[in-house]
Amino acid sequence: MNKEFPKGFFWGGATAANQCEGAWDVDGKGESVADHITAGDRKTVRRFTHKFEEGTQYPSHEAIDYYHHYKEDIAMFAEMGFKMFRMSIAWTRIFPNGDDNEPNKKGIEFYRSVFEECKKYGIEPLVTITHYEMPYNLAKKYDGWADRRCIDYYEKYCKVIFTEYKGLVKYWLTFNEINTGTTQIGTLMSTGVLSSNVVKFDLVNLIEETDEQKSRKFSALHNQFLASAKAVKLAHEIDTKYKVGCMIGGLFNYPFTPNPQDMLETQKRMQISNYMCSDVMVRGHYPHYAQRYFNEQNIEIALKDNDAKVLKDGCVDFYSFSYYATGCVSTDPEALKTAGNLFFGVANPHLKASEWGWQIDEVGLRYFLNEIYTRYELPMMVVENGLGAVDTVEEDGSIHDPYRIEYMRRHIEQMREAIEDGVDLIGYTPWGCIDLVSASTGEMHKRYGMIYVDKDNDGNGTLERSRKDSFYWYKKCIESNGTDLD
Ligand code: BG6
Repeated sequence: MNKEFPKGFFWGGATAANQCEGAWDVDGKGESVADHITAGDRKTVRRFTHKFEEGTQYPSHEAIDYYHHYKEDIAMFAEMGFKMFRMSIAWTRIFPNGDDNEPNKKGIEFYRSVFEECKKYGIEPLVTITHYEMPYNLAKKYDGWADRRCIDYYEKYCKVIFTEYKGLVKYWLTFNEINTGTTQIGTLMSTGVLSSNVVKFDLVNLIEETDEQKSRKFSALHNQFLASAKAVKLAHEIDTKYKVGCMIGGLFNYPFTPNPQDMLETQKRMQISNYMCSDVMVRGHYPHYAQRYFNEQNIEIALKDNDAKVLKDGCVDFYSFSYYATGCVSTDPEALKTAGNLFFGVANPHLKASEWGWQIDEVGLRYFLNEIYTRYELPMMVVENGLGAVDTVEEDGSIHDPYRIEYMRRHIEQMREAIEDGVDLIGYTPWGCIDLVSASTGEMHKRYGMIYVDKDNDGNGTLERSRKDSFYWYKKCIESNGTDLD
């Protein structure tokens, strides 16, 4: 028997609008950048296309049609005992073009109905304000977040949702995995900077970036920091009960060897790709190491006088992050490369990898929970975690996924250890609690869910939902507040 989790711990699950809702053009929804990204799989990289190609699948268009199934899905989350449900609002349901004068009423009503459904079951929503789906119009017209005007559009959007959902929502996240904005693929998925010319989800063959492109990338990120800070301030003004967090993509690395060069390189990598964003969002100013990096990379960000104050006035209330895998950093060019969640590191000989090459490292979760908590001393949530795997439906309809149960069990045990270490961990919402479209590969076969959805990579299937073995296991885990993990 394991030790109990703290009372009131938020057990739950997580999704994102563009990966589950479908109904991409229904009830006044506008196009997002995500709607322009094709399906793919482990071998076929996803592509961004301005025009919709006939005969090509764009998986966000139907996804798992959560838009029409949400009542059934939330009922199943409730059956598992969820206390929290992390979901995102599609910006383009509220402001179809991002820069519209008036919000779209039908979009507002849809999410109100979703939140009311959660309330019915006592499930606390955790709402990502934008999760990898910038309005396409903003990306095209303004080059996405590279333009400061997006800050105002985002603020306007926040004002609408903070006002409309007062009393129904308490926890908000300003940007999903904001630090992906430091990566090349992030310019497409996260910041909508189309001038970067990143049109493929190719994580291996990166494009050579000009100084101008690097500057736009980090300016876009800077604008997101400002937008996030303004959102935090606004949220607190609208409802003093609101809690707003940052959401960082867990790009975690260890040094491959104790060679001081590897140690230093790892530190630098962690600083820029992982810590810089949360340092700004938690402390309200850029960390000491940022300027040297910008200088060395010839990155110029057009700062305005008031920016420092805006950042200072909008520090987040809690820290959240995704955690799937870890990698290693080496200064030895010969060291082997391994795939990871939007980052590449050298293979760690002590770890096994998932079928998609993501190295599974539950002990690392305890390690990094401690590292981050030491750094910020803020309440923390693990808002994504899980194993992407291929599931098989047996003849009798059952789905046996012991690999997923094992993955979750190990990570939950390590979270328990971290709490014992003194970390103020308040919630766990594993990713894709219901099968949905993979963000990196755009396929259905990379499944994370405890709930199976009948749909394949070609887009065929009944969309029927069914319970995997992990569904019953997680239900037991929640019922026992983390003590029964067998
Ligand atoms: C995170 C994203 O990076 O990882 C999610 O926030 C994504 O949107 C998740 O789905 C898992 O990655 P993937 O590529 O397996 O779907």
